[in-house]
Amino acid sequence: MTQYTRELFDEIMVQNYAPAPMIPVRGKGSRVWDQAGKEYIDFTSGIAVNALGHCPDEIVEVLHKQGETLWHSSNWFTSEPALELASKLVKHTFAERVMFANSGAEANEAALKLARRYAVDHFGVEKNKIIAFEQSFHGRTFFTVSVGGQAKYSEGFGPKPGEIFHVPFNDIAAIKAVMDEQVCAVIVEPIQGESGVKPANLAFLQALRALCDEYQALLIFDEVQTGVGRTGHLYAYMKYGVTPDILTSAKALGNGFPISAMLTTDKIAKSFSPGVHGTTFGGNPLACAIGSKVIDVIAEPEFLAKVNRTSTLFMAELQRINQERKIFQQIRGEGLLIGAELVEEYHGKAADFVKNAVEQGVMILVAGPNVLRFAPALTISDEELIEGLARFNLSLPR
Ligand SMILES: Cc1ncc(COP(=O)(O)O)c(C=O)c1O
Repeated sequence: MTQYTRELFDEIMVQNYAPAPMIPVRGKGSRVWDQAGKEYIDFTSGIAVNALGHCPDEIVEVLHKQGETLWHSSNWFTSEPALELASKLVKHTFAERVMFANSGAEANEAALKLARRYAVDHFGVEKNKIIAFEQSFHGRTFFTVSVGGQAKYSEGFGPKPGEIFHVPFNDIAAIKAVMDEQVCAVIVEPIQGESGVKPANLAFLQALRALCDEYQALLIFDEVQTGVGRTGHLYAYMKYGVTPDILTSAKALGNGFPISAMLTTDKIAKSFSPGVHGTTFGGNPLACAIGSKVIDVIAEPEFLAKVNRTSTLFMAELQRINQERKIFQQIRGEGLLIGAELVEEYHGKAADFVKNAVEQGVMILVAGPNVLRFAPALTISDEELIEGLARFNLSLPR
């Protein structure tokens, strides 16, 4: 019998990842088991994806039901699940129109193309500048790495798409200095996730909204990581009270089944007329049926209130551990997207903490080299949270 070992990964897989030594084989709720039967508490939820935990019963049921009904029909046909999910997204958000895709990067690619196209339609080809923020992350297609503010992801692939400008995050003076009539879009993560769980200031987002209005540019919120309940709000823009023109959502929308959505207004959506943009799999009935159930569960005010209560407990427990161990200089975030910045002594060592945590039976994430990121399932119980953090405590340097 073939042994599917971690070594086999190094032999036959493209080495663009360096996964952990253990191979998870099963998950339920906030727990995961590896090939040897060892159990882990999962504070990663697949990088803020499995918001309802692993294999949640209500999603498994939808998967079975839709799986026996219709999986895929292509964009030559619409489907009932797609219309159902789109109706729910329209009902719960600012959006009047929805387009589905399969990943966060694809939703952002669509958003950026739409913004450029809208500018061409309404103002002419000269209005093509895109403003993005240093350290931001918007995905790995060539357009989205070019717009993302991290050179390590965009360099070494030849000439990049042009007219993309990066300014410091949370710096109102810096954005004011670059805004002009040629800007067609500003794209921002309400909380910069991958680069350290850094929340935008309210005044900064308000300034972006005002500047986009003044210069007739579109404001795009990348809510791929912050969306679908992660911050204790259905979307983070609702907490800030600043409404974008385009919003992208992915990750938790399918609880692990690939689906993403781009939300926008009627007027802006008109620039994507038939044939202008598309995707074979985007909005397939199986993904949409799952997304529809995910939204039903997470959009409930009581569910979101519980996320906020769990967040308070998580932060308090982390602070308590920190009082004893003094490893973090700051604990920040919103809802269950939590970043803990290591004290200087441990800068550059975040990945070592992850490795040690896995050995103690708890899965955590990094957000850059100096920050540990905790993004558990939104459904994690208080007991699992406390047990997971106790394991984490045990993994810390003595
Ligand atoms: C804010 C943000 N945008 C976009 C992406 C890319 O999403 P995907 O990996 O699904 O393409 C991510 C993924 O981490 C993200 O955090």
